[in-house]
Amino acid sequence: MYKASQDSAPATPDVTTPNPFPEVGSDQLSQRFVGWVRAAAPYIHAFRGKTFVLGFGGEVAAGQLAQALACDCNLLAALGIRLVLVHGARPQIEAELARRGLEPRYHKGLRVTDAAALECVKAAMAVTRIEVEALLSQGLPNTPMAGSFMRVTGGNFVTAKPVGVVDGIDYGFTGAVRRVIADEIAADLDQQNVVLMSPLGVSPAGEIFNMSMEAVAEAVAIALKAEKLIYLCDAPGLLDAGGALIEAITADDAEVKLKAGEGMTEDLDLYLPCAIRAVRQGVGRAHLIDRDKDGGLLLEFFTPQGVGTVLTRDPLFRLREATIEDVGALSSVIAPMEADGTLVRRSRERLEEEIERFTVVEYDGVLVGCAALYPFIDERAAEMACVAVVPQHRRAGLGEMLLGRMESRARAMGVERLFVLTTRTADWFRERGFREAPPEALPRQKREMYDVSRRSKVFMKTL
Ligand SMILES: CC(C)(COP(=O)(O)OP(=O)(O)OC[C@H]1O[C@@H](n2cnc3c(N)ncnc32)[C@H](O)[C@@H]1OP(=O)(O)O)[C@@H](O)C(=O)NCCC(=O)NCCS
Repeated sequence: MYKASQDSAPATPDVTTPNPFPEVGSDQLSQRFVGWVRAAAPYIHAFRGKTFVLGFGGEVAAGQLAQALACDCNLLAALGIRLVLVHGARPQIEAELARRGLEPRYHKGLRVTDAAALECVKAAMAVTRIEVEALLSQGLPNTPMAGSFMRVTGGNFVTAKPVGVVDGIDYGFTGAVRRVIADEIAADLDQQNVVLMSPLGVSPAGEIFNMSMEAVAEAVAIALKAEKLIYLCDAPGLLDAGGALIEAITADDAEVKLKAGEGMTEDLDLYLPCAIRAVRQGVGRAHLIDRDKDGGLLLEFFTPQGVGTVLTRDPLFRLREATIEDVGALSSVIAPMEADGTLVRRSRERLEEEIERFTVVEYDGVLVGCAALYPFIDERAAEMACVAVVPQHRRAGLGEMLLGRMESRARAMGVERLFVLTTRTADWFRERGFREAPPEALPRQKREMYDVSRRSKVFMKTL
């Protein structure tokens, strides 16, 4: 079982440094800084006015990165993101129980809350909440929060119901979400307030219930139709069998992983089911991010690769036919491969003329790969050309997806032989059922255009 907490503790970040770029002035560093800020611009535009619900446990609230996290939340709010924070208080409750000589009781990962435990819960929640609020309210000069005018609000936005008796265990004052008063939360967000919620709820009978942070965050995200539900957790995200981070996963695949139980941690076991339900019920994305990663939120949201795992209902990759609007993005995908001679050069005019021949693959709305099909109907043949995937997204099966789409497009046209001309990618095609053929095997028209000087090899596949 992976435990991020077993790693060495991160150094407390210095959030008071007024200028983290003292060397700016050197041309190279200035250029990099400008490049970073500009690269973040599309995300800033995309997220303004969107609702993010961030759930984090009591470990985060009391941890070394709490202050840095508060600064980053402040920045997100300043960029126009509608922010709801839901804090937990599990270690604080444990400490309060211990102080009063009481034993914690859990069943299936959920606290059993009797009357004495509820007193500890109320005390721990109140202290944790005010401490988080204090962190969010800073505004000293020489810190990232200088000039901040963020207001933190909260209230009885969630009504609760008892969990009741499960497997013969009476959960007492442990509650589940009954209703989220979404309109009231939205009204607070409209005022540009940050809403901070504790996982405590009251029933219509006036009883107080202790709920789980993750369940409240999930219910609030669904009720607000949030763009993102984010959990800070005790792992970098979901890991594959080889221990590598899974950057993106669909809810269905995540469910398979959850059932298999491999690579799960205490937090992932609790948060992943909530994340899966949330994206299935209309939340745009759910993110699992390492709670020990300084600046994790900024890296996840403002860099293309992110740092955690993003869950979506549908795959982020999408194959579709190209349209004239794709010409600009298409030419920037293929330009580096034209420059190094892997692909034949195509002018912008030619791309515009031939755009209907292209199929493209998008990742999260950004064009990352393409392929084109040139039929020679008289001879029941077609050329597949300009097969390209940007380097960051290679080895994810996109090339294969494009090939599959080209083959079905070709079959639908009555094509029996699919061929490619390649100088450097022979093995890739060979491993996918293509066989080398002499240039004479090409359709007549193509034979006449065959550029001997390029010394391309012809590979053919019978469909
Ligand atoms: C060829 C290309 C489209 C494959 O895209 P992709 O999305 O990475 O393809 P897939 O994920 O389906 O396949 C990846 C596998 O192909 C292998 N591969 C990639 N390029 C290869 C090459 N030139 N020769 C042999 N194998 C190659 C990878 O090593 C990987 O196999 P592995 O995981 O077993 O090591 C991509 O590498 C590319 O854009 N190359 C530059 C452009 C090009 O050569 N186009 C063909 C011109 S006709």
